[in-house]
Amino acid sequence: MILPLVSEREEMMQNPALHYHQLSSYERSKMDSHALDWENEPSVYKEYPGGEVFPIPLEVKMPPVSVFELFQPQLREENPPPLSFDLLGQIMLLAEMLTGRARHANGEIWFRSVASAGALYPCELYVACPGIAGLSAGLYHYRVKKPALVQIRTGNLLPELFEASAPDESRLVFLVSAIFFRSSWKYRDRAYRYHLLDSGHLLENLLLALRAFSFAAQVESNFDDQRVNDVLAVDSRREACLALVRVPFTPPAATETAVPLSPADGLSRRSQVAAREKFYETIQQIHQATSSSLLSGRKKVPVDDFWSRYRPVAGQSDKEIAPPVTVNEVCSYPDVLLHRRSRRNFVSDEPLSTSSFHVVISLVAEAVASPSFASLGLTCGFLVGSVAGTEPGFYALKTADQSLTLVAAGNFLSHMAHACLDQRWLGKAAVHILLFTDLTALENAVGARGYRDVMLAAGRLGQRLYLGAAALELGCCAVGAFYDREAVEVLELPESTNLLYLLAVGPVKK
Ligand SMILES: Cc1cc2nc3c(=O)[nH]c(=O)nc-3n(C[C@H](O)[C@H](O)[C@H](O)COP(=O)(O)O)c2cc1C
Repeated sequence: MILPLVSEREEMMQNPALHYHQLSSYERSKMDSHALDWENEPSVYKEYPGGEVFPIPLEVKMPPVSVFELFQPQLREENPPPLSFDLLGQIMLLAEMLTGRARHANGEIWFRSVASAGALYPCELYVACPGIAGLSAGLYHYRVKKPALVQIRTGNLLPELFEASAPDESRLVFLVSAIFFRSSWKYRDRAYRYHLLDSGHLLENLLLALRAFSFAAQVESNFDDQRVNDVLAVDSRREACLALVRVPFTPPAATETAVPLSPADGLSRRSQVAAREKFYETIQQIHQATSSSLLSGRKKVPVDDFWSRYRPVAGQSDKEIAPPVTVNEVCSYPDVLLHRRSRRNFVSDEPLSTSSFHVVISLVAEAVASPSFASLGLTCGFLVGSVAGTEPGFYALKTADQSLTLVAAGNFLSHMAHACLDQRWLGKAAVHILLFTDLTALENAVGARGYRDVMLAAGRLGQRLYLGAAALELGCCAVGAFYDREAVEVLELPESTNLLYLLAVGPVKK
C-alpha cells in the first residue's frame, strides 16, 4: 500500500505546533555555524524616553519565607495588604532584578533573577494599573535596570484589554511579552521555543512575588492577541504579549473617575531593539498559528496513558511521592532570588542526598499535578545518575497515583549529554528532569494555542527547579539545546514524544 504523503503545507495547517517544533529541531548532521553579528546585537533594555518615571527603591520589606512554601498557593493566598505603589514596586523587583555582572569579549552582561536562554532576556514586563495609592491609572513598563515603573499610557485599561470586564472590577493586570529578535539574533528559528520558556520563567517569578504578599493571581494565556498588543502599543511583528496575570484586589475607598486611555502615538517604535532586525518567517507563522483561541470544550490531554507503553522494571516497586519530611533549606525567599544562577560544575563523586531528591521530586510532582498544568499533558521523567539509595535509571512520574516508577535501568546521563549538543558537564549531574509532551495529542485536544501553554508551563517549572535547587545549595542548569530526535532515542521514547525542556540538578563544586 502506498501511503499518501502529507505535504509540508498540509501538516503546517493541521498541526502547526508539531510542525514548528520539528522545523526548529536540531539535527547533528545539519548544524551550520552561525556567526553572531555583534555590530547588530539587540539591546536587552527597552526604553520609553519621555514617560513619567516612578523609581522603585531597592528594598523588599518582607520576612524571609521558605520558597517551598511559596510553591503551594493554598498556604499563602489570603488577606493581602492594601495595594500601593510601594508594594507594587516590591512585587516588580521580586519578579525580575539584576543580580550580577560579567564581562565578555564583546562587552558586559548583567544576569537577572530569572534564567534566560543565552542570557538574551527577550521578555518585558508591564502592568495595567487601575489607580492605587501613589500611582494613577495607566499602563506602566517595568524598567529592570535602575528599577522603575515608567508610565507609557494614562487611563483605564481594563475595558480595552477585556471585552467582558465588569465596570466595577478592580484588578491589576500584568503582561509578559517577548521581543522576538532578541533571541532569534542567536537562535534563529528555534528562538520561539525560548520566547515561551523564558516567559514561563518570568511568569513563575512574578507569581511567587505576588504570593509572597498573599495575592491570589490567575494566569491567562488565552487572550485576544490583537486587542492586548494594541493596548500595549507594541509593534506586533517585533514584540507580542505571551501571558497575562490578573490579580483581583480591594480598591481604595475613593476610586478615581474613569479616564479614557491616552493615544499610543509612536510607542510601537520602542519594540525595535537593533538597527537591522531580521524577521523569521517560521516564528511569525507559529506565533500567528497559536494566536487563535484554545478550542472550546477543551479536553484534557491524557498524561498517565503515556507511561502505559512502558513496563516497570521487574523486581522494582514504585516509589510513592509524599511531602518531604525534612527540607535542608540553606537559603530562603527572597534571598534565594539573588543566589539563583545556572551552575554547571557538577561533581560526579558526590551523590544527591535522598532527602534532597525527595524535595526535588515533590516540587515537580506538585506542579505537574496542579490544575493549571494538569490539563496540558506535560509529562515528566527523571534520569537518575547519582542519587543516594536510588538505582540509576529512567523513572516515570505518574501524576494520577503520585508515584515514581523505574522504567529503564542504567545510567543514561552521559548519553543524554551527548544528545544535548555534547554539553559534557550534563553527564556529571545527579539527575536530569525531562519535560515532554505529545504535541499531536495536545493540538488535537486544545488546538495550536496549547503549544504556548505547555511551553510556558515548562518554563515555570524550570524556574521553580532553579529556585528550589538554590535554596538547597544545589546546582541547576536548564537545557534547551538538544538534538531532538537523538534525545528521544536515548530513552527509546515513542516517536510521537516531543522533548520540550531539560533541567540538570545536583551537587556542585563549592
Ligand atoms: C530556555 C533556556 C534554555 C537554556 N539552555 C541552555 C543550554 O542548552 N545550555 C546551557 O549551558 N545553558 C542553558 N540555559 C541557561 C542560560 O544560559 C542562563 O540562564 C543564562 O546564561 C543566564 O545565566 P544565569 O542563569 O546564571 O543567570 C538555558 C536557559 C533557559 C531559560
